This record gives sequence, C-alpha cells and structure tokens, in this order.
Amino acid sequence: MLDQNRSAHINAAVRLLHGGQLVSFPTETVYGLGADARNPDAVKRIFQLKGRPERHPLIVHLATAEQIGEWAQDIPPMAWTLADRFWPGPLTLILKKATRVPPEVTGGQDSIGLRVPAHPLALELLKAFGGGLAAPSANRFGRISPTCAEHVREEFEGQLELVLDGGECRVGLESTIVSLLDERPFLLRPGGIPASEISETLGTPLEQQASPPSAIKAPGMLLSHYAPLTPCEIQSRETLWERVRSLCGTNRQVAIMAFSDSSPGEHSALPAHTVIMPFEPIAYAKKLYATMRLLDHGGYDTLLVEAPPSGEAWSAINNRLRRAAHPKIKHRRNVR
Ligand code: TXA
Ligand code: MG
Repeated sequence: MLDQNRSAHINAAVRLLHGGQLVSFPTETVYGLGADARNPDAVKRIFQLKGRPERHPLIVHLATAEQIGEWAQDIPPMAWTLADRFWPGPLTLILKKATRVPPEVTGGQDSIGLRVPAHPLALELLKAFGGGLAAPSANRFGRISPTCAEHVREEFEGQLELVLDGGECRVGLESTIVSLLDERPFLLRPGGIPASEISETLGTPLEQQASPPSAIKAPGMLLSHYAPLTPCEIQSRETLWERVRSLCGTNRQVAIMAFSDSSPGEHSALPAHTVIMPFEPIAYAKKLYATMRLLDHGGYDTLLVEAPPSGEAWSAINNRLRRAAHPKIKHRRNVR
C-alpha cells in the first residue's frame, strides 16, 4: 500500500472505530474483526456480524504492553516477563480484568485476553486509535479464520465498510493463549508461539491437561471450531490412499492435502485433487487455512488431510486439524 493511501485508510478506520463501527485489520496470525473495546454497542456488533454466542470472550488488542494496566488488575510478574519477551507477537495473555472493562468484551467473565499484535498495519492502527480493539478472527462463527483481506470480504460480503489490506498473514494460525489466572501458567490454545518457548522463558512448565482449572473458562474452545463446510477427515500416511480409493470408487469428489502425491503406484490414476503441503510446520501453518478455504469452495464431497507428525512444532496445526475434522461440522451445511 502506498504511504498516502495507507494513512488515508488508517484515518478512515480510526473514524469508523470511534463512531462505533467495525473494521477488519490484519495481524501476523489472522485477520481480526475490530471494535472499540470501550464501546459495548460496538462490541455487540461483532457478535451479531459473526453470529458468535455472546458468552465467548474477545481478545483486546493493544499498541504496547504498557497499556496492560488499563485493562487488567493484579498483574502477576509472569505477565510482564512474557510481554517483554513475546510482544508484539502471537501470544495472548489471560489476566484478571480491570473493573471498568465492559462485560460484553469478556463474555461476562472476570478475566480478559490481551495481546499486542506484530503486524505493522495493526500497530499503526492501534497507535492512531489510541485505545484497545476487541477483535476475534474475522470469520463467521466456527468457520475458517481469514489469512488475507480477500477472505474477510468473502466472509462478510458487503457487510463491512472497511477491510484494511495488509497482505497475507505471516503466521497463518491464531495466537497461543496462556492463562495467568492461577499460580501455574496454563496453555489454553496452542498457536503461533511454541509452548516450550513460553515455559523456558518463565522457567516453569505450562499446564496443559484437557480441562483447565476451575477459574478459567474458555467457551471459545469448541471442538468443531476452525472448520470447513466440506466434511474433513484426517488419515495417516498408511490409510490415506486406501481411503481415497474407496471414496473415488463410490464416485465421491475428493480433495486431498498431503505431503506428497507419491501415492503407491496403483492409486496414481485416482481422480482426486491433491494439494501438496510443506513438510515443515511454519510453512504448513501459513498455508493451512487458505488451502482449506480454497478446497472448501471446490464442491468436493470430502476433504482428506494427511496427518502431520505429532510433536510440539506441529501441535497448533494438529489442534486446528482435529477441530476441522470434528464430526459436528457435518451438520453445518444445513445450518448455513
Ligand atoms: O491470533 C489471534 O488470537 C486472533 C487475532 C485476530 O488476534 N484472534 C482470535 O480471536 O483468534 P478469537 O476470538 O477467534 O479467539 C479467541 C479465543 C477464544 O477461543 C476465547 O475463548 C479465548 O480466546 N479467550 C478470550 N478471552 C478469554 C478469557 N478471558 N478467558 C479465556 N479465554 C478467552
Ligand atoms: Mg476465531
């Protein structure tokens, strides 16, 4: 974007936000759907536009870590340590909320999610705006997060006055969410920053068992989040091509996300569409949502995904794939 255009767009965004309107902006993870976090009516518009349940708390985006004190209270030293090390960046901290934060932002909870994003346009917008921007990912509830401006326009077709275009998101997966509400830090969502880097920085392990301690409620962590409309299955390298063959045998239109198309010889002529995914987690993450979105538009009956390796470097990717493949989404076509 030219400098002149850029500041015109930022000014327009700030005007809309101060007027209680929504603006989509890029972050390094995914695009956000932003509203003035101090304006309850503006925040309500986010829930309406996304079709998101009102109990699902939003992340408030800030220009600098110094603003934490305006949004949270009883801030533990660990919060400053993590903010120093990882902000601006793909890390969201869950802290006890300051009293004057509107309950609409936090889904009625006493806690708040805060993050300083590492995208130049987001930071410019946040600085020019001056306050906090409540912003979930800019997609309809439960669907695939947008990683470029075009995806956002597609999601909200003409219902959004302004989408700031900052190109393709560098990370491509949402932020890592860490709760600091208890004495022990708790990993609520794996994401852009590996959990091991966080625990090394803190010098203490991150708790991450299936159910968080009672103080933490994260209603957004539904199993069927981040989902394409096309039924999606994860298959191991061993079972993938057999599954492709059996689906193609019943005339199903099949799309595949695999690490290679070197299907064993006899399968090579199968009439399925294969996208080769990088066998490297950073590159895979960047491509994941855009690929799913593209294949979701292809009219396929099934999307088959070759399971990535297990292990920490792939954990955010495996987390999103599991959710995309969760059976609940099979009913979505009727819901739309
Ligand atoms: O990378 C990201 O985090 C992106 C960009 C736009 O910043 N945002 C994002 O927002 O993914 P959203 O709303 O799609 O997901 C936010 C998650 C939800 O699952 C929600 O439950 C959790 O953060 N969350 C927010 N505030 C919370 C709180 N006070 N306690 C527990 N979980 C919270
Ligand atoms: Mg989301």
